[in-house]
Amino acid sequence: MLCAGDCILAVGVGCVHSASGVFYRGGRATAARPVVESAASVLGFIVAQANRRGVGHVLTIDVTPASRRFGIGSKLLATAEERLRAAPCHSVVLETAVDNAAALAFYKRHGYSVVKTIPRYYSNGVDAFVLEKELLSGSRDK
Ligand SMILES: CC(C)(COP(=O)(O)OP(=O)(O)OC[C@H]1O[C@@H](n2cnc3c(N)ncnc32)[C@H](O)[C@@H]1OP(=O)(O)O)[C@@H](O)C(=O)NCCC(=O)NCCS
Repeated sequence: MLCAGDCILAVGVGCVHSASGVFYRGGRATAARPVVESAASVLGFIVAQANRRGVGHVLTIDVTPASRRFGIGSKLLATAEERLRAAPCHSVVLETAVDNAAALAFYKRHGYSVVKTIPRYYSNGVDAFVLEKELLSGSRDK
């Protein structure tokens, strides 16, 4: 849940007339607006939140199926982490389904570790892993 003083960041990767680029807009939660306004097609996006205690939270990341394994998710995550560091956030957390092998491999590749499990986190009853990464300790992607 967003609280007063939290910031939200949304980053999209789009394709405009054959040129690709990263578009982002961050700001106070109340000022957050959709991004990639000028993109003809959205290939992927990430939404993250920075709280006042210096903890970032990746709320969602998604790359269109046809665009996966081309490094777009990595670019989105790196951009979000960079913005969270600047917030500043000392760490970032996120949740992902325990059976989402692709996401777990992706986050492991980017230096995230499982810190706990939340039973029946999703509406379909699936458990979630909570993953965490230190942002300011010099931890690097594998
Ligand atoms: C997870 C997701 C965002 C990754 O995006 P992506 O653009 O495909 O990721 P990248 O191309 O940057 O992958 C980087 C690395 O992550 C790992 N990885 C990504 N997808 C993987 C898969 N399906 N299986 C195994 N490893 C995978 C690999 O190490 C990969 O490097 P490689 O391609 O050189 O082997 C994408 O699969 C997705 O949108 N999934 C559906 C939504 C979702 O599950 N979101 C996360 C829920 S929190």
